[in-house]
Amino acid sequence: MSKQNDDYFKSVISHAKEYGFVFPSSEIYDGLSAVYDYGQLGVELKNNLKQYWWKSMVQLHENIVGIDAAIFMHPTTWKASGHVDGFNDPMLDNKDSKKRYRADQLLEEKIARYTKDGKTDKAAALQEALDKAMSDSDLPRLRALIEEHNIVCPVSGTRNWTDVRQFNLMFSTQMGAMADEAEQVYLRPETAQGIFVNFLNVQKSGRMKVPFGIAQIGKAFRNEVIARQFIMRMREFEQMEMQFFVRPGTELEWYEKWKETRLKWHLSLGGDPAKYRFHDHVNLAHYANAAVDVEYEFPFGFKEVEGIHSRTDFDLAQHQKFSGKKMQYFDPEVGQNYIPYVIETSIGLDRLFLTILCNSFEEQDLSTEDKKDSRSVMRLHPALAPVKAAVLPLTRKDGLPEKAREILDRLKFDYNVQYDEKDSIGKRYRRQDAIGTPFCITVDYQSLEDETVTLRHRDSMEQERVAIADLERIISDLVSWKNLFDKL
Ligand code: GAP
Repeated sequence: MSKQNDDYFKSVISHAKEYGFVFPSSEIYDGLSAVYDYGQLGVELKNNLKQYWWKSMVQLHENIVGIDAAIFMHPTTWKASGHVDGFNDPMLDNKDSKKRYRADQLLEEKIARYTKDGKTDKAAALQEALDKAMSDSDLPRLRALIEEHNIVCPVSGTRNWTDVRQFNLMFSTQMGAMADEAEQVYLRPETAQGIFVNFLNVQKSGRMKVPFGIAQIGKAFRNEVIARQFIMRMREFEQMEMQFFVRPGTELEWYEKWKETRLKWHLSLGGDPAKYRFHDHVNLAHYANAAVDVEYEFPFGFKEVEGIHSRTDFDLAQHQKFSGKKMQYFDPEVGQNYIPYVIETSIGLDRLFLTILCNSFEEQDLSTEDKKDSRSVMRLHPALAPVKAAVLPLTRKDGLPEKAREILDRLKFDYNVQYDEKDSIGKRYRRQDAIGTPFCITVDYQSLEDETVTLRHRDSMEQERVAIADLERIISDLVSWKNLFDKL
């Protein structure tokens, strides 16, 4: 990461903490690695992102419905899905520093270094060898590559490595009070399986016809060994997943459609289109016949935000095998029973949140010849902004606070609005800019005479005089979800 990007990313993280978006978990005890809490504004922004996803997936599609499955599931679910046996990372330890690393990540970093140094042939050869070793789950080969490429531990600087071992990423716990009767259960590592096991329930109770989708938002847990880059890779995170069930043979058509739909959705949030790209998976999982990531260019490089996978009938067929229940659908159009194929769209809510922070946070220099000035601003789309408007009496006397509170009371049932009377009006504008509030409503002496206020716009900093009676309509037009939907 360049120094400039590194500095920018650090300022995003400290801004997020300073203004109540994201805090390290249990910080008074020095935090818990890779676990974060969302603060008073973070939760509003996160809820708005969830709402936008839910509306665009469930509300706008007649053939997609939502569910909310439990985090705990029958343990056989994870046998069937392959997570018990196969949800592993290849790890090794450095015997001197006692630090643990992911073997594939050490090699990826070496590839990036070769590329940066212009050694593109070496980078390509190592990438090919890494891909092959990963797809063959060839742990000795990964260890050999680390040796051959002289990879040292960043902490101890030595090459004193252990063998590479598989490390399962699922958290487990015991269910049941009696130790001898307790059953081992897992904290789900993805929300998708809650959808697959409910396929028949939803299809039958909702009289759903293929093609149809089931969407879900919820927590997922992974014991990530290497956790870094703030909320990018967490041990407890949230996913927004949708499984779209289709007739076998039509899956690749739907896969292309969902690829296009999801990229458009990301772009509708207002980010720079050059910061988004598709990354096709070269080594497909054994059950997939196509897979792509939507990547965003974070300050630390392009990284996955969402995966779109054509998962064939793997999951439903596995659950049929392990549960003994038929996971079939009778398709009246073709007069056949079959296990539907699935296109999955799976987005990490926390990563999405981070794209929004990186897209919107700016330190602006507003200096003129006469005066030095600057501001921190979050240029969030008004529909996503945690606070839609701030109502600010120019002074704390002469009936202005009362008039401002009257306006607040009219708006607060429909919008999250703030009242602020402390400090100069300029300082109050800056505080609202820093949290992304799109509008400030200033109540002054003229307001008492003619029922008008100043409406200040965050991005342009322009001010206009508007009637108090028009405020609800103006705000409603500007913060409407429709402004985002229009771009889909
Ligand atoms: N059901 C498919 C599935 O879970 P995945 O690629 O492992 O696929 C999907 O995860 C998305 O979940 C990723 O694109 C990412 O946005 C998010 N995600 C995965 N692991 C994460 C973690 N440790 N912290 C934050 N987000 C994560």
